[in-house]
Amino acid sequence: MDTHDAIVRSYVAAHQPVTQEVSAVLSVSEGQLPAELRGVLFRNGPGRFSNHGQTYGHLIDGDGMVTRFAIGASGPGGTPCIRYRNCYVRTTEFVYEQRAGRLLYRNFGTNRAGGFFGNFFRTHLKNVANTSVIYHHGRLFALWEGGLPHLLDPVTLDTIERYDFFGALKNRGPLLERVLLPELPFSAHPKVDPQTGELYNFGLYLGPNPKILLYAIRSGVALTVTREIPLPLPLLAHDFLLTKNWQILFLFPASLRYLPTLMGRPPSASVQEVAGGMTRILLVPRDGGPVRQYQAAPCFVLHFVNAYEDENGHLVVDACRQEHFPDAPRPGELLAGHISDIPHVQLTRYVIDPRAEEESAVREQSLGGFSSELPRIHPAYQGLPYRYAYTVSATPDAPHGLFSAIARIDHHSDDTKLRDFSPGIPGEPVMVPRPDSVSEDDGWILTVVYHGSEHRSALYILDARDLSTVCVAELPHHVPPGFHGTFVPSSHCPPGWNS
Ligand SMILES: [Fe+2]
Repeated sequence: MDTHDAIVRSYVAAHQPVTQEVSAVLSVSEGQLPAELRGVLFRNGPGRFSNHGQTYGHLIDGDGMVTRFAIGASGPGGTPCIRYRNCYVRTTEFVYEQRAGRLLYRNFGTNRAGGFFGNFFRTHLKNVANTSVIYHHGRLFALWEGGLPHLLDPVTLDTIERYDFFGALKNRGPLLERVLLPELPFSAHPKVDPQTGELYNFGLYLGPNPKILLYAIRSGVALTVTREIPLPLPLLAHDFLLTKNWQILFLFPASLRYLPTLMGRPPSASVQEVAGGMTRILLVPRDGGPVRQYQAAPCFVLHFVNAYEDENGHLVVDACRQEHFPDAPRPGELLAGHISDIPHVQLTRYVIDPRAEEESAVREQSLGGFSSELPRIHPAYQGLPYRYAYTVSATPDAPHGLFSAIARIDHHSDDTKLRDFSPGIPGEPVMVPRPDSVSEDDGWILTVVYHGSEHRSALYILDARDLSTVCVAELPHHVPPGFHGTFVPSSHCPPGWNS
């Protein structure tokens, strides 16, 4: 079997369903646990793409499964170890479907059984809580961009409740909208200001009157809706940016047509390119003031790397840019081994002058390099000038553009380092700075890699300076690559984190 076939087979096998929830002490198969790396890595992603005999219709419809790695926990004999646990998020819909033994809800690419009459006017999509996980002010949340977060126990991963921030995320709009969309969406990409600890987020409200909602948790645990920005169309966005003075939103020329969704078409089949549409960039001043709007060439961005304000007051935005809204392979096709090409994702820099006339305000420049996604940076550089980015990447000869490597991108030297895991499939590289580190790349990269040869996954701890292996810990089972995670240093962990 050549490497191409092996990567494809790995990718297919990695997306098989996880059927067990386990708790285990991981065995270290290579290297040693770094003495200074202490805390918990939480990750989230779809754990299964079918249930009750029905395969879901889109990769983002998989049921959310959170994994937890307590690094430096107390092991047998009191020696530091990695304690691992995985748990599906018990959303209301998940529990009801388990009880019913069949699918009860629609989702982005999945319809209920029953054709037109089984789906007509059913606007309640299944909250799969599968996209990300954040820890803020002592609360652990599993996130899904279409609805409410779920509050989890940070030690056991038990689902505590569907969380609306004391009613702040209840839809209080007109009656029809409250009936159609009773819960306001809370995106899966909140940003924490490293200077203040404040959390900012947005929600893409794709109801009959589409709008962007901006949220902030500035002090304590209360969430406030800080802005409502009407949209002319239900345009799509997945991520946003936060700098010292601005919140930045990119809205792409792809829109979700609401009427066909109401009439029973899956939302994924109701997305259409906006003919002649441009990318809209909204600059929202954090201290109030009018929203500024600019335009850029049409494209689609799932994830941004970072944004910052340079010495001229310009906004620098680095993005993983695609040419169009992507077509994802359907899980049924993927699991049968029919993989379509993944679009090239080009790291791209936008420079925006918030004082200039609209026509000249946005400059766009390719940053070169490999096709790259799921970018992470040193967390203290969020919203600030930065040098290093870490991504999953496709090597030039990877089949279908599949991501089988981790890249370390140096914006100052153009020296990109690549750690090729082929035929393994690495997940998002979470950057964890060494305590008291002074350089931006002094720390570790944590990534969960699927190894097809044993149908198992392993946690890799890499040196963030050169991506060399520091430690490998074997999981007792496989985990699909998933989406996003967060690392909580032991100094911020809840009591009992290391048990
Ligand atoms: Fe994401």
